[in-house]
Amino acid sequence: AVAAPTPAPTPAAVQGGDPGGGRDGLFGAITSGTIGAPGIGDPAFPGDGNGGYDVRHYRLRLSYDPATKRLAGSATIRARAVQDLTSFNLDLRGLTVSRVAVDGATAGFGRQDDELTIRPAYRISKGDRFEVTVDYSGLPEPIRDYVNLGTYGFVATADGSFVTSEPNGAKTWFPSNDHPADKATYDFEITVPAGLTAIANGELDGEPKTVDGKTTFVWREKHPMASYLATMTTGKFEIRTGKSEKGLPVYAAVAPAFHGSLDNLYTETAKITDYWSTVFGPYPFSSTGGVIDDYSSGYALENQTKPIYGGFSPESGIIAHELAHQWFGDSVSITRWKDLWLNEGFATYAEWLWAEHRGEATAEALFKRYYANAADPMWTYPPGDARATDLFNNSVYVRGAMTLHALRKAIGDAVFFPLLKKWTTEHRYGNVTTEQFVALAEQMSGKKLTALFDAWLFQPRRPAVVA
Ligand code: ARG
Ligand code: ZN
Repeated sequence: AVAAPTPAPTPAAVQGGDPGGGRDGLFGAITSGTIGAPGIGDPAFPGDGNGGYDVRHYRLRLSYDPATKRLAGSATIRARAVQDLTSFNLDLRGLTVSRVAVDGATAGFGRQDDELTIRPAYRISKGDRFEVTVDYSGLPEPIRDYVNLGTYGFVATADGSFVTSEPNGAKTWFPSNDHPADKATYDFEITVPAGLTAIANGELDGEPKTVDGKTTFVWREKHPMASYLATMTTGKFEIRTGKSEKGLPVYAAVAPAFHGSLDNLYTETAKITDYWSTVFGPYPFSSTGGVIDDYSSGYALENQTKPIYGGFSPESGIIAHELAHQWFGDSVSITRWKDLWLNEGFATYAEWLWAEHRGEATAEALFKRYYANAADPMWTYPPGDARATDLFNNSVYVRGAMTLHALRKAIGDAVFFPLLKKWTTEHRYGNVTTEQFVALAEQMSGKKLTALFDAWLFQPRRPAVVA
């Protein structure tokens, strides 16, 4: 670490237009003087994210070599100060930082736990735009067995990397404001040994270029994205690209062991994305896709534009779930983790809608089947208050979906489906809370719905009334 330089008058802020990445619905982080808070203010995850600034854009220039498992490069972060700052934090776990610069001037920095504290040479004033560059390298490690979250973050595989970062694993591979309340746009320039593929979010910018046995892939995600949805999945992949019937670009990639699943992944992804756009409103991003890697994580993740399936060939219900997240979670994002049912309840309900659409089962029948089991542990876990120590509890998924079905029955299809579209339109690329959803449902239905939501989301018992 370098000693903090004396704060001096503010230099001119970095100018330039950044699209997107603005914060809305963000609860206030605690500020003290000119020191940015080490957490964004989510009570359940106090260390996650940071206060004092709003990231607009990440530019990640990284090279990865599976032979040595070494990641090296630099992250350039464009941000806007929301208070005066003589110091601020980024989240970063492990890895070695060699240099930090703020607006081109070398800055002081220190490391403690998963926090990188940066002391710019010049004080940053509230409202200023500034640019931070962090040069770093090392052997990234995922977070393992943290409470019931399994292994997540950057996982080194035999031929590359498997990167699924929900809820707070982005810090295992790049310095970030690692919380969904601060979304930003991303550019990725990822260099891997020739013969391997690097897959990130958004779309490829030009053909990959190979120089001296190394290939660089440039990907751009021009829509705001939560840090946990960013990926750099690398390795040997077979790829199929094209367009859906509605004309949306599709990118499907599978590890060679899943050769036989590529066409199904491609076809189902294209078809389901098109279908959801008729139910949930226009697809929010510029391409859709999917990745099957041969690392068995035991779960899938809705990485923006490219859900990833960890070591299994997904059946269409799971693809429908991950693609529904592109609307619910990725475009319309939570502001605090306790509202996770806004992601998982909606994506699970989407599975039921998909089953209904395919004539396999009605949402009503699925609802009744779950309701019938009075001993299900989800009845003691209120899904409207997802717990940090048991974030992905089945209740957040299934009881969350049941909440939507109870709502649908209470307000009728003629209000329920327009409500879903209004929700995705009004909050596209933004951040939301449960209270906002309840308010919109009440407004559109003209009904008082607090008792329904209270029983389904907040009580530790099975609601007495089947709506
Ligand atoms: N959002 C993912 C899904 O429902 C689950 C992510 C689980 N993450 C974890 N660290 N276990 O598809
Ligand atoms: Zn999900």
